[in-house]
Amino acid sequence: MSSASAARKPHLNLVVIGHIDHGKSTLMGRFLYEIGAVDERAIKEYEEEAKKIGKESFKYAWVLDRLKEERERGITIDLGFYKFETQKYFFTLIDAPGHRDFVKNMVTGASQADCALLVVSAKEGEYEAGMSPGGQTREHAFLAKTMGVDQIMVAINKMDTVNYSQQRYEEVKNGVARLLRMVGYNVNKVQFIPTSAWEGVNITKVNKDKTPWYNGPSLLEAFDMFEEPPRPIDKPLRIPIQDVYSIKGVGTVPVGRVETGVLKVNDVVVFMPPNVKGEVKSIETHHTRIEQAIPGDNIGFNVKGVEKSQLRRGDVAGHPTNPPTVAEEFVGRIFVLYHPTAIAAGYTPVLHVHTATVPVKFVAIEKKIDPRTGAAVEENPPFIKQGDAAIVRFKPLKPVVIEKYSELPQLGRFAIRDSGRTIAAGVVIDVVPAKVQG
Ligand code: GTP
Ligand code: MG
Repeated sequence: MSSASAARKPHLNLVVIGHIDHGKSTLMGRFLYEIGAVDERAIKEYEEEAKKIGKESFKYAWVLDRLKEERERGITIDLGFYKFETQKYFFTLIDAPGHRDFVKNMVTGASQADCALLVVSAKEGEYEAGMSPGGQTREHAFLAKTMGVDQIMVAINKMDTVNYSQQRYEEVKNGVARLLRMVGYNVNKVQFIPTSAWEGVNITKVNKDKTPWYNGPSLLEAFDMFEEPPRPIDKPLRIPIQDVYSIKGVGTVPVGRVETGVLKVNDVVVFMPPNVKGEVKSIETHHTRIEQAIPGDNIGFNVKGVEKSQLRRGDVAGHPTNPPTVAEEFVGRIFVLYHPTAIAAGYTPVLHVHTATVPVKFVAIEKKIDPRTGAAVEENPPFIKQGDAAIVRFKPLKPVVIEKYSELPQLGRFAIRDSGRTIAAGVVIDVVPAKVQG
């Protein structure tokens, strides 16, 4: 894989999502192995190490699960990043955790993605668990759409556990198609692929011996069927920060994906909400130096004049001439996906927007609206319930960057969560900017 050819191919961020244990990391570990991005020796090493702690079946998952705790528990906790190339694209793979305690990491991953692979296990009981009301097949599909991932495909995995039954495949496919239609995807454009991560089936080529009834593409072929999304280079610069490093001999290196605008070496940038400025000394994408970064690029950029301790995940970089907007309050149009009782003013759950996570208060429920037409059905309702759509005035309880959906959609859509469940999703229709100090 030469980086020169990678630079010429369009870049896509792919997030891999789905219910816990459905085989996301294993499928992608196996995929990377089959395309030669990971060598045999590494897999052997993982196999031996994994065997020692009785986790042999996770040898492929270990390509992406690198944390000690992830390997010991046999689950993904934080996002795992990996790069690979197909004929058409250069991909950044973002492996998300399925565990319900780590959905916030999944949301961060989805907020950075152009496209998603939803992994659904066909195994008896596993498909059903993911699709249950609290299941993450359901929750992740909803969140991916909410966070603006407009293209999705589905791997129906662990087909070996059901003897590659076409009947089971159709059952799972029809159920997932119904779910995707409900959350807003155009199902006619969605590829479904029967796979076995464990036996290596339909990953880089279609295995007719195992699935003679299947006429579609392999996983690798399907990746090239994604379309390149628009790159809004003429909008103001916005880079939500995903992580910050301090590198010896280099300095402070924030990492994130350019959502809009163009970042160039020598630019002065401002990070909001902390309102600190610095000068961009260098930009790198996957260890390759570049002179400018455009929307969709995952970059690390060295800034002079800013300390690592001044920045955190959720801050947003922009140009001082048009800095990211810190919200005192904002008005959102939301849909309530789940709530055990009723939501009234004063309710204070957690807001997820781009890479930020902050507590947020429902200040006022201004209108209940018809979810289909948007027409008001009740002014100032005392409460809203599951299945309702509403216009709500929110107050973030910590400084956070929020933009209007109509201007910068990437920073204007959000999810609301509470006690480990996704409560609502929505878009920002208005922002009251905060008076910024500094
Ligand atoms: P989280 O990241 O924790 O949500 O899980 P995950 O979806 O990444 O699942 P992971 O890859 O860690 O796999 C969970 C278990 O399922 C491991 O024991 C895998 O070996 C097993 N597994 C994954 N894919 C397959 C498959 O195709 N067939 C069979 N039989 N087992 C599989
Ligand atoms: Mg995993």
